[in-house]
Amino acid sequence: MSASPYPLGLRLDGRRVVVVGGGAVATRRVPALLDAGADVLLVAPELTPALRARVDAGRLHWVPRRFVPEDLDGAWLVQVAIDDPMAAAAVSAVAAERRIFCVRADDRTAATAWTPAVTRHGPVTVAVLGGGDPRRAMTVRDAIRDLLAVRDTAPTRVRPDVEATTGATTGRVALVGAGPGDPELITVRGWRLLTEADVVVADRLVPGLLLDELRADVELVDASKVPYGPSRAQEEINRILVDRALAGAVVVRLKGGDPYVFGRGGEELLACAEAGVPVTVVPGVTSSIAAPAAAGIPVTHRGVAHEFTVVSGHVAPDSPASLVRWDALAGLRGTLVILMGLKNLAAITATLIAHGRPPQTPAAVVQEGTTGAQRVLRATLATVAADTLAADLRPPAVVVVGDVVGALDG
Ligand SMILES: C[S@@+](CC[C@H](N)C(=O)[O-])C[C@H]1O[C@@H](n2cnc3c(N)ncnc32)[C@H](O)[C@@H]1O
Repeated sequence: MSASPYPLGLRLDGRRVVVVGGGAVATRRVPALLDAGADVLLVAPELTPALRARVDAGRLHWVPRRFVPEDLDGAWLVQVAIDDPMAAAAVSAVAAERRIFCVRADDRTAATAWTPAVTRHGPVTVAVLGGGDPRRAMTVRDAIRDLLAVRDTAPTRVRPDVEATTGATTGRVALVGAGPGDPELITVRGWRLLTEADVVVADRLVPGLLLDELRADVELVDASKVPYGPSRAQEEINRILVDRALAGAVVVRLKGGDPYVFGRGGEELLACAEAGVPVTVVPGVTSSIAAPAAAGIPVTHRGVAHEFTVVSGHVAPDSPASLVRWDALAGLRGTLVILMGLKNLAAITATLIAHGRPPQTPAAVVQEGTTGAQRVLRATLATVAADTLAADLRPPAVVVVGDVVGALDG
């Protein structure tokens, strides 16, 4: 039995590392070497496009030929990333002669150093060696990564947490985007946090199936049933988040789409920060892009639209409370995506037309996009409001205006 490996963290900043080979293995290894600040010399007659892009960007040196012993002059480490065992052994032999550690992709038993499976969390790097079995190393690494991701409270901590300042035990809040409706469109991180939560405060628009899968002991607060008017209700939701977290709970505030797209996520973050509660924000797939996509409408398309604008239509264009320059939007050529706009759709479309957007501009309405109940209506800017009424389309729905509406039609 061979001796156990001796683990080390190599500090490669500014140090020469030679990579021999320009194929798939080198493509996977080089980014981590560059990340560690290594001065990478790549020796290979040919490169993958990804490696070539790094060479073109000046990130590493490339010698476009086969290996010669002088390539190891000044090297601290060599990575052999070629399949040819004879050529690989020749590089190993030169490395051994010069007492340079050598990683071998083709034959780990012939290597003098092994690459561990790695996961990084802020300043912490976890490296796992699987006793000669890379799959075992990856399995253990994945388990540790999952554990650390769940416990990870580092992002967006705007204030020191209560534990740090008072010694009391505190929980934390995660503002998680649940995606547009299809339960599979939550992010991996969002899902992990949900499985860890003690309390989930959920909006009306979050996919019901996500809630179905919560542990039985999770306290579920339905934010849409919080009494009072909209602004008092928001205060009440903020209070629930803060109180539960200060009592030690892991709280997930689950919001439809993305928390910061008309989601009042910013207000909740500030309320938690004010109370010294650590907050993590997990972005979500927003309905403003996903609902059109689910209806076959890309919000940008080459040669059709070079911009898209997402706007809320919940305030009528002529209302003094409106913050939207509808006249300016009418002058844009690109895609306009209107959320919460059904109630004011007739006034919105009339305003856009009055300020110059052509009435025949294609338009579409997507109701409950990405869900099994999705409905799609196609019309023009001139007709979309009346057609929506006639078809009895209802919120939640997005309205898309622009030539992208027909861009993928055959
Ligand atoms: C308060 S906003 C929240 C938006 C959300 N934060 C997001 O990023 O998708 C609610 C509006 O989003 C739109 N919306 C949300 N989910 C939708 C879906 N599945 N299909 C169409 N529109 C949706 C509707 O315009 C709805 O009135």
